Amino acid sequence: MDVYSAIQKRRSIRSYKPDGIPDEIMEKLLEAIRLAPSGGNRQPYRFIIVREQDTKEKIAAACRWYPGRPQGQGFIAEAPVVIVACGSVNNAVVRYYTDEGVTLTTGWDVPPEVDRNQADYQSVMDIDLAIALDHLTLVATAEGLGTCWIAALDEHEIKRLLSVPEDKKVLVVMPVGYTDSWPEPRPRKPLEKIICYEKYS
Ligand SMILES: Cc1cc2nc3c(=O)[nH]c(=O)nc-3n(C[C@H](O)[C@H](O)[C@H](O)COP(=O)(O)O)c2cc1C
Repeated sequence: MDVYSAIQKRRSIRSYKPDGIPDEIMEKLLEAIRLAPSGGNRQPYRFIIVREQDTKEKIAAACRWYPGRPQGQGFIAEAPVVIVACGSVNNAVVRYYTDEGVTLTTGWDVPPEVDRNQADYQSVMDIDLAIALDHLTLVATAEGLGTCWIAALDEHEIKRLLSVPEDKKVLVVMPVGYTDSWPEPRPRKPLEKIICYEKYS
């Protein structure tokens, strides 16, 4: 499947068959993550592959908060593989401003006097992580697998469950598996609502 077809075919899948994912396909998914670009090529992330049923159920329970989904997100535990995406705020490239102008460095190298809560302090960690996971979703689609981005999660609970160090972030949980229900495409805004030319309008 070419990349255009994968982009068109991908959906959020919220129902999974128990069938496992063959090793050679898992390798392709993980290689898609590995090849993703990242700010400064730092790859400031760690992806935890979870297959144990008990752990998947606990993760699903920690994703119960989604307001638009009062029934919870139990479907996460149906998937044979759940990927938990963790980012390292310190390892990622950050951008901030001083009297000298814009500075690019890594989270580790930000001087202590810089306020990380200032409005224009920006880490690219979330972008890095999203690119890697998006690579994964497209390769998964090409392999006939469903995925779903899950950001409605209790980060503290998942960190505790999976022994994620305090200084790392858990940004996304992503179930991956085969499905019998490939939904119709969800609507998107027309191009003129999201694209403008030369200036913001
Ligand atoms: C960053 C992000 C977070 C999301 N979080 C959730 C979530 O917690 N639970 C869920 O069921 N879907 C979640 N989704 C899926 C979106 O609802 C879905 O992508 C959107 O409705 C468009 O549908 P489609 O993916 O089928 O095209 C998330 C998507 C993104 C990109």
